[in-house]
Amino acid sequence: MPIKTILVVGARPNFMKAAPLFLEMRRLPSFFEPVLLHTGQHYDYEMSKVFFEDLDLPEPHYFLGVGSGTHAEQTGKIMIAFERVIQDENPDLVVVFGDVNSTLACSVTAKKLSIPVAHVEAGLRSFDMTMPEEINRKVTDTISDILFTPSQDGNENLLREGIERNKIHLVGNIMIDSLITILERINSSDEDKVFEKFNLGRNNFVLVTLHRPSNVDDRTNLGNLMYFLNRLSLTIPVIFPVHPRTRKNINGLNTNYTFNGNFKIVEPLRYKEFITLEKYPRFVVTDSGGIQEETTYLNIPCLTLRPNTERPITITEGTNELVAYENIEQKIGLILAGNRKQGKLPELWDGKTAQRIVNTLKEWSFKS
Ligand code: UD1
Repeated sequence: MPIKTILVVGARPNFMKAAPLFLEMRRLPSFFEPVLLHTGQHYDYEMSKVFFEDLDLPEPHYFLGVGSGTHAEQTGKIMIAFERVIQDENPDLVVVFGDVNSTLACSVTAKKLSIPVAHVEAGLRSFDMTMPEEINRKVTDTISDILFTPSQDGNENLLREGIERNKIHLVGNIMIDSLITILERINSSDEDKVFEKFNLGRNNFVLVTLHRPSNVDDRTNLGNLMYFLNRLSLTIPVIFPVHPRTRKNINGLNTNYTFNGNFKIVEPLRYKEFITLEKYPRFVVTDSGGIQEETTYLNIPCLTLRPNTERPITITEGTNELVAYENIEQKIGLILAGNRKQGKLPELWDGKTAQRIVNTLKEWSFKS
């Protein structure tokens, strides 16, 4: 009997992590029966549906439609709805991805119903318990039966926390599987269309994404950042695809200046368009987790506006640097003067992570 596996996605960063594994499992119907479940944590077309299209994911078998809310509301709604699905489906395994509220909600729900849980992207730690994602990561890792880590630091963190060694499997970074697939599909005429659409030139713009509460929920911080980016765009064009959380907060700012035409504040981009842009900026400014990794793969300098990162390999081996608002101008000056950080590709960022996960799960099923 194939292993009936529910793969849980909820928010934008989950989609590119789940797609390679779902598609790999679907290629092996005698071993796996993958069931795709979308909690609906992200529900806007630009935040969800277009990603399914770009990643070749089918309509999910289940869409829980939970939407937004406080953390407790969102988590609670997902748990209640997911419990019913598990009772109906009685899966052999639930796979959760990353660190969003859907990851926590579904891992806890499955485990309490004695369904084995596998966590993809286990072991990452920012050691900052003010981040909701850190809480989600720690709870999920503590209760998971199979932990798939993207890099050696993940294994070390888990062992330090007392997780049994035989549960931990270093498989590499699954998001890079999706990145490699989409890069192969983007041809130069697709690229030209994107650059025409936004009226930008390759290697002559800055790509910005910001959505973390610490940067965008505080009016002073967001106001300072917007003022700074507007000023930067007088030197080099800046494109800023804006997450809905950030959009709401920008709309609430009372700016006493107008944004100049080279500061392009646009809607969230589809995966293919975003990756096209991400191939060619002079540098990226971000507070996202995934973008720190993608820029390391693409060898693009990345300035991460956070005091910490759960992805230290992007700093020790890649092109990422942590910056504070106070020193970002100086860092940017260095990059524009040609003094940029070089990196190398971390081990197992090779596009074969989904295959390694599937092989491990086959072995696991024989044993259990
Ligand atoms: C979530 C994840 C975060 C991840 C981010 C990527 C958690 C705790 N956080 O944060 O780790 O980096 O996704 O995008 O799970 N909204 C919309 N449309 C949508 C989705 C959200 O308008 O499709 C609005 C919501 O109404 C809310 C805000 O955006 O006001 C935040 O959404 P939410 O899902 O709570 O968290 P994110 O900030 O997106």
